[in-house]
Amino acid sequence: MNVTQDIKYIGVNDREVDLFEGQYNVPNGMAYNSYLIMDEKIAVVDTVDARFTEKWLLNLENELSGKSPDYLIVQHMEPDHSGSIKAFCDKYPETAVVANAKAFNMIKNFFGTDLSDRQIAVGENDTLNLGKHTLTFITAPMVHWPEVIMTYDSTDKVLFSADGFGKFGAFDCEEEWLDEARRYYIGIVGKYGVQVNAVLKKAASLDIKTICALHGPVLTGDLTPYLATYTKWATYEPEANGVLIAYTSIYGNTKKAALLLADEFTANGVKNEVYDLARCDIYEAVGKAFKYDKVVFATTTYNTDIFPKMRTFIEYLTARNFQNRTVAFIENGSWGPMATKVMKNMLESSKNLTVCENNVTVLSGVNEQTEIAIKNLANELSK
Ligand code: FEO
Repeated sequence: MNVTQDIKYIGVNDREVDLFEGQYNVPNGMAYNSYLIMDEKIAVVDTVDARFTEKWLLNLENELSGKSPDYLIVQHMEPDHSGSIKAFCDKYPETAVVANAKAFNMIKNFFGTDLSDRQIAVGENDTLNLGKHTLTFITAPMVHWPEVIMTYDSTDKVLFSADGFGKFGAFDCEEEWLDEARRYYIGIVGKYGVQVNAVLKKAASLDIKTICALHGPVLTGDLTPYLATYTKWATYEPEANGVLIAYTSIYGNTKKAALLLADEFTANGVKNEVYDLARCDIYEAVGKAFKYDKVVFATTTYNTDIFPKMRTFIEYLTARNFQNRTVAFIENGSWGPMATKVMKNMLESSKNLTVCENNVTVLSGVNEQTEIAIKNLANELSK
């Protein structure tokens, strides 16, 4: 596939992986993207996961038509992209490897290979001239490892964005970008909003027509929505008005309260989504907590703490700098309800959270009094 006349897509699709990075469900597979820039000098941008080395080298060979690459640009050393570096270097011994200095230490640690005789270390704003195309390197530390660089081709106005703007799903899977890009971004890079924002500011000065990420589709056309969404995620601003209701329930009573609350929101015309944390993809729920401006946490008191799935959920949020939201709590307890206190404590260090006044306590089962409390909470959050 041609990205532009000179830039070819040579990536691979992984439809075998069950859990990406050992923890993320990827029902539509995963793409490990790689690109080839054909010019007077030829550059390959990133390799792929080691399980696909053979297929990728064949893709590369088919596009090279007998030529040899002059440069391998290594933007990111996580094994989903670096896994085929050694095989590539063995096959093309004359090719120079271009990367941030930190990446060369990682190459040595991963592969025991010292590339000192063929390495070109690059930093902020360094350039590489291929003939018609000049590449400029942009450092992107912690997006999402420290050695990451992005690469800007000023001729075709293409930004090779490493993991940035990537999503779960194979290259050719037909689904909208937003939901799976959010689940990917919040899950994997969400902690590093400050660093992502720094890179977005650098990107704002570039004339970008195409974004070539290392996962997901090549982005073209009007790029404004992608950039605006990334800015919101990086600054922890909500993407949308609405409520995520995340609950756990043991015998169905907390669930009943959560669903009654959802009905009230719907009646009030407030967008809402309900997630059962014991049964859903927890990273989808985490993503939705960063999507909406309001989150309701509903759980049971359990072993003088809270139900484990809710504890995990809140830990996943705080680990990703959850902030700038309005939150409310529904607790259940048959003799000593204390879940709201525990959840509030867990969220204490989250910045700029507004806690609702009308939190709800369920004493075992939902009754008339609980229903009134739920209505009050819904009305407070619907303002
Ligand atoms: Fe796709 Fe951070 O690797």
